[in-house]
Amino acid sequence: MSIRTEKLTHIYMPGTPFAAEALNEVTFEIKKGRVALLIGPSGSGKSTLIQHLNGLLKPTSGQVYFDDQSIQSSKAELLRLRRKIGLVFQMPEEQFFSETVFDEVAFAPRNLGLTDESLAESVYNALNRVGLNAEEFKDRHPFNLSSGQKRLVAIAAVLSIKPEVLILDEPTAGLDPAGRQKLFNLLADLNSNEAITILISTHHFDEVVTLADQVMVLKDGRLVMDGPRDQVFNNREKLESLGLALPSVTELMQDIAAAGFQVKTGIYNLEEARREIGRMKERQF
Ligand SMILES: Nc1ncnc2c1ncn2[C@@H]1O[C@H](COP(=O)(O)OP(=O)(O)OP(=O)(O)O)[C@@H](O)[C@H]1O
Ligand SMILES: [Mg+2]
Repeated sequence: MSIRTEKLTHIYMPGTPFAAEALNEVTFEIKKGRVALLIGPSGSGKSTLIQHLNGLLKPTSGQVYFDDQSIQSSKAELLRLRRKIGLVFQMPEEQFFSETVFDEVAFAPRNLGLTDESLAESVYNALNRVGLNAEEFKDRHPFNLSSGQKRLVAIAAVLSIKPEVLILDEPTAGLDPAGRQKLFNLLADLNSNEAITILISTHHFDEVVTLADQVMVLKDGRLVMDGPRDQVFNNREKLESLGLALPSVTELMQDIAAAGFQVKTGIYNLEEARREIGRMKERQF
């Protein structure tokens, strides 16, 4: 059970003078229940890749599989898969088409044929889950929200159908630090308590990196690194040559170790770093 691509290639506007290759033979697998991060410079193909994973874009060549079933195989199959894969766009407003927040979040469960009462319940639950007060927000127009609130509505709209896989393109853009922490807590909860598989594309991975099992790196449409988190972040030279930085805490701990102190590396959050530095002091004296 997984989401997988095989030699996925995408060319925008093929056969025209504007033809642009955005993905070049990208092959990877994310196993069920895992959290994967997709990182890479601007224009490296992250959003293009993500839009292939629920069939919004069609591969120029190559395949996308969900649970070993090609998502290209039939229209019915594609619709079935879209109910299992919740995709939150980089620009959430690009996915809005309802007049109210309620209708936006209700759209997918309504299509699944929920009755009025259970529909309202699932909308309220989804809004509360992302930290938006349902009573306060349900009648607002989705376009008239702040960018952080739009993102939360977009997340609620996909959570309302209880997806098996959640894919988020730059989910922290527009969120304040408290909003980022809330989103982090929500993702951690969805993954650990509901076993939802998660793929996050991001430039700002200091928080979400603590959740990640796997890290994939795109550069100019090619998957140039893919592996367990510690393995990818241990290869600092390669990441830096790709113009990418490590999470700040991880980089600092590696610097301390390189300066000759006995500390563990492979550390991704401040708390863990504090504890490790405490242990280092104990060892020193
Ligand atoms: N609709 C489109 N038509 C033509 N080219 C496109 C289109 N969308 C993206 N591209 C090109 O494809 C490449 C990959 O773009 P993509 O949006 O996937 O990158 P990204 O990694 O998501 O970047 P960012 O971090 O800025 O969001 C870029 O060179 C971009 O200019
Ligand atoms: Mg993008």
